Amino acid sequence: MAKRKRTQKKRQDSFFNKAKEEGYPARSVYKIKEIDEKYHIIKQNDIVLDLGCAPGSWMMYLSRRVGQKGKVIGIDVQDIKILVERNMKFIKGDIGEIVYGTKFRKIIRSDPKKSLFNVIVSDMASKTTGVKFADAEESLNLAKEAFKITKEFLKNGGHFVFKIFESEDTAQFIKTLKDYFKTVKRHMTKATRKQSREFYVVCKNYINHKKMK
Ligand SMILES: C[S@@+](CC[C@H](N)C(=O)[O-])C[C@H]1O[C@@H](n2cnc3c(N)ncnc32)[C@H](O)[C@@H]1O
Repeated sequence: MAKRKRTQKKRQDSFFNKAKEEGYPARSVYKIKEIDEKYHIIKQNDIVLDLGCAPGSWMMYLSRRVGQKGKVIGIDVQDIKILVERNMKFIKGDIGEIVYGTKFRKIIRSDPKKSLFNVIVSDMASKTTGVKFADAEESLNLAKEAFKITKEFLKNGGHFVFKIFESEDTAQFIKTLKDYFKTVKRHMTKATRKQSREFYVVCKNYINHKKMK
């Protein structure tokens, strides 16, 4: 194994071991932690929507950060593998079906037009096929779906963080986000495997155009 690969593998394993030691079900927790520490995304008492939350390490981190008066609502097609704390709510299903369904509306209060979340995060990813073009296209579709939800449910001034795979269409999509947020930054986390084309987009201070009319 080449030296660079060995160092990288060691670093990857260190994230895995650290997550295990600290009781998180996935090493991906260090991605949201790094983003939050750098961009100051989460505050105490925030209400956060976590799209693609299973097995639940982001939810654990977010739940601690928002505190007992905050709330974290997670959605995933798969089950979570964490203890559901009092300030957490997990809904199983596809995001597209869940957020426009009555159960979700009931959870986030009665008025469907009311923007509720201070922060929306999406770590969604489908199982990769190994076909780069297809995987990137799927990732872009998930990011677009997350953005559609964000436009409907994010509070004015709120933040949106999502994962996406690099492709020739990502730049155009990210450009459109600049019309909706005061700042939009690309961020590659240390816990992301070097060979991966994944990165995060950190969008801060949502400008809700509907509210401005
Ligand atoms: C990388 S994992 C998320 C890990 C999570 N952030 C954590 O720290 O535990 C990606 C998740 O996205 C979910 N996902 C992908 N497409 C989805 C969809 N359309 N609706 C709901 N969940 C989806 C997958 O089931 C998977 O659990």
